[in-house]
Amino acid sequence: MRKILVIGIGAGNPDHLTVQAVKALRTVDVFFVLDKGSVKQELVDLRAAILAEHVTRPYRWVEGRDPERDRSAGDYVAAVGDWRRARADVCLSLLAELGDDEVGAFLVWGDPSLYDSTLAILDDLADRGEEFDVEVIPGVTSVAALTAGHRVALNQVGKPVQVTTGRRLAEGWPAGVDDVAVMLDAKCSFEGVDPDTWIYWGAYLGMPDEILVSGRVGDVAAEIRAVREEARARKGWIMDTYLLRRP
Ligand SMILES: C[S@@+](CC[C@H](N)C(=O)[O-])C[C@H]1O[C@@H](n2cnc3c(N)ncnc32)[C@H](O)[C@@H]1O
Repeated sequence: MRKILVIGIGAGNPDHLTVQAVKALRTVDVFFVLDKGSVKQELVDLRAAILAEHVTRPYRWVEGRDPERDRSAGDYVAAVGDWRRARADVCLSLLAELGDDEVGAFLVWGDPSLYDSTLAILDDLADRGEEFDVEVIPGVTSVAALTAGHRVALNQVGKPVQVTTGRRLAEGWPAGVDDVAVMLDAKCSFEGVDPDTWIYWGAYLGMPDEILVSGRVGDVAAEIRAVREEARARKGWIMDTYLLRRP
């Protein structure tokens, strides 16, 4: 039986890699990589550097081109569904490179359970009749890297936290929580919240370019937007995450 490892590699710092992940990397015959184009080459390079540091046995490295998501589509959920199916098609062709009884691996940014489609894609391929075993190795999430960078707890004592997207936050503050961790926000949705809310913001967490800003939204929102735009223009891409805490 073919085996697929889905390995969380952490959010950008090669030292986020767990001992469990390192042990798993050393059993892999074929690494599958979805290439997002030259803009995010840095993210592919980090994966290559991880392998160079930790794996000495021979392995194969198979790349597929990550399809673009239709960002103009009105129906967001349908567009993501189409995109996942297109990614599954690419992964199906990658899987053809894996021999019987070989071990393949996807190196997943952060942790595979958080806003990542690899597990859903593998379910899709299993539904299409592909046969393989799956094992998941957890990783350090960008949310954990954010709270560590700011040296704060994710939750207030005994209180719930919601993890959501910038798109959802733009629709309104979630009910029943005072603490909201926001990911996938291309539009600075924090600008729409109560200015007395506290924000812990971080970009390129764990990486040499890490930027951290915190403060009252009313005081730091403009600074974060300016820093974000400058960094994005300079590097060609940005990944940022933030925690909002209501007073
Ligand atoms: C598709 S999700 C993947 C999340 C990942 N699975 C995790 O566990 O963190 C991508 C989002 O994660 C966040 N993110 C990932 N890595 C980050 C980093 N190094 N610094 C800041 N945000 C990051 C950003 O909000 C980005 O838009």
